[in-house]
Amino acid sequence: MNITTMTTTNIKYQPAGQFEDTRFEKIHNIVFSNSNIGSVCVAKEIANLIIEKQNNNQLCILGLATGSSPIKIYEELVRMHKEEGLSFENVVTFNLDEYYPMDKKSVHSYYYFMHQHLFNHIDINPNNINIPCGTIPLDELHQYCIDYDLKIKEYGGLDFQLLGIGRTGHIGFNEPGSHYNSGTRSITLDHVTREDAAPSFLGIDNVPKKAITMGIGTVKKAKRILLLAWGHNKASIVKETIEGEITSEVPATYLQEHPNTTFILNDEASQELTRVKTPWLVGPCIWTEELASKAIVWLCQLTKKSILKLTDKDYNDHGMSSLLVQEGSAYDINIQMFNKFQHTITGWPGGKPNADDSSRPERANPVKKRVIIFSPHPDDDVISMGGTFDRLVEQGHEVHVAYQTSGNIAVSDHEALKYAEVIKDINSNNSNIDSIIEKINSKKGDLEDDLEVRKLKGLIRKRESLAATRFIGIPDKNVHFLNLPFYETGTVKKKPLSDIDINIVSNLIHTIKPHQIYAAGDLADPHGTHKVCLDAIFEALENLKNNDYMDDCWVWLYRGAWHEWDIHQIDMAVPMSPDQVLRKRKAIFYHQSQKDGVMFQGNDAREFWVRAEERNNETATKYNNLGLADYAALEAFKRYYF
Ligand code: F6R
Repeated sequence: MNITTMTTTNIKYQPAGQFEDTRFEKIHNIVFSNSNIGSVCVAKEIANLIIEKQNNNQLCILGLATGSSPIKIYEELVRMHKEEGLSFENVVTFNLDEYYPMDKKSVHSYYYFMHQHLFNHIDINPNNINIPCGTIPLDELHQYCIDYDLKIKEYGGLDFQLLGIGRTGHIGFNEPGSHYNSGTRSITLDHVTREDAAPSFLGIDNVPKKAITMGIGTVKKAKRILLLAWGHNKASIVKETIEGEITSEVPATYLQEHPNTTFILNDEASQELTRVKTPWLVGPCIWTEELASKAIVWLCQLTKKSILKLTDKDYNDHGMSSLLVQEGSAYDINIQMFNKFQHTITGWPGGKPNADDSSRPERANPVKKRVIIFSPHPDDDVISMGGTFDRLVEQGHEVHVAYQTSGNIAVSDHEALKYAEVIKDINSNNSNIDSIIEKINSKKGDLEDDLEVRKLKGLIRKRESLAATRFIGIPDKNVHFLNLPFYETGTVKKKPLSDIDINIVSNLIHTIKPHQIYAAGDLADPHGTHKVCLDAIFEALENLKNNDYMDDCWVWLYRGAWHEWDIHQIDMAVPMSPDQVLRKRKAIFYHQSQKDGVMFQGNDAREFWVRAEERNNETATKYNNLGLADYAALEAFKRYYF
């Protein structure tokens, strides 16, 4: 079975030891190249089950999950209902969990989520919908949970259970410490889980501390379980769950004992599995240049040797003898790989004029290039590639920056209030500003901002960005604020990408006709703004690729705000001196609203400038450990071919 391209609707489980490509894995899993294909496949399995039950005049009892992972599955089920006549009349659903306390009407309730994404759009009988109730009085809660389990039992148990997985290894809200036999109950949420929920609640303080969750015992009784994990963020917990020992510290590992469970992963979520990360330890490999580079970086890290010091024995001892057979000797591979990594380094990200460019990452010509740096939020440009940005400008290229979104929701109320009050101090008769101040002061907790307040917040970010781009030295006319409409919801949940967004991006590319495009390739969160912004660029490139000028356009993907390219993925590495590191720091500091306790910190407690410096320094150290030059910092890019 080709694990990355499988699209069958007939996902069948085979017993442990017979299904895997590796002895390391204890749970059946399928890896899809992207989450959309995987979701369609899961939706088909659910639809098939519903139809099979219909044909037998039976009810179909589904256990359902919320969160970002199943959204596309619900979308596909709704599509099947509308376009293919899939009926849900025989379906009874039990949701896994609900925050506690939580009002049904709140946009944060799982009740709201399920109706918004699924129930409002299908023909399910409302009496067949069961979602733990977040307003049940405390003294009735215990009995309520017992009754929830009993009701599932009365229906003959769950035919199918859909799960996501939290970074703590929770399924449902069964946090670490949960007993394998636990029933539905109330639970205290782990801090990590609350951190992950913080963005949609606009701050961790607004996230409930408790929830009601189906128990592990309840889930495990389901006849069929599919667990979804998309994105880089899930890669390490997926590995721990599939390859680790069963432990209450990672409740999802209990699924190893379930006889009919499949994990549905995308490429990013599978990255830490031994079979994917170090396939040479698992079985025969086809040694492409990319796999060989990956293996050599790993071997250097493991043996603590630089490339040129690796011996035949090192290769043989660590599952890489077939590479030796293919390439001859360690000496030959080492030289070849050393040169490959060496050639990624350049101080001339726009190409070195009048130089032989046959082994450089960028072309020498044209000497002066037109460049667009796409930045999803107003600050990703300097955080992720401030050093390279600075060099491109210094080396005389025509550099444009395009801020794709306004970034308005990331400005805190107190920051906005400060600016509003300054405006008020200057002009006390400004009634418009009075109303903005009033709206900020009267805002409650996690409610979304009024349009005027959002506008002010967006303008704050605009001015910060212009301060930074002026510092780097590009004229204001080269700074483009695209304000893509998909972002403008006032909440963390965004609208789907539309043709309007794509056209805005296409028009800019068409007007500038760039030789280089830089874009954020941060895919840590498959539903996040960075991914949508990247999709907008990819779609625009697709639309424009038949224009002659596009033959001359190279696309470079940067990372940095959330994670970094692996060393073997890097096609261009741009060094920075200690002074350039300080200049980059200064450029980031202009984005003051994103300093000192930002609203969307993510799961990394470091400030953005610290993350950027540490990541760039780490890349430099890794290069140095391979035996390459010792730089203070390196910014890394991967070329994207379209
Ligand atoms: C949701 C649930 C949770 C989520 C998990 C992953 O009903 O029970 O276990 O499935 O937290 O959430 P996402 O999909 O948002 O990463």
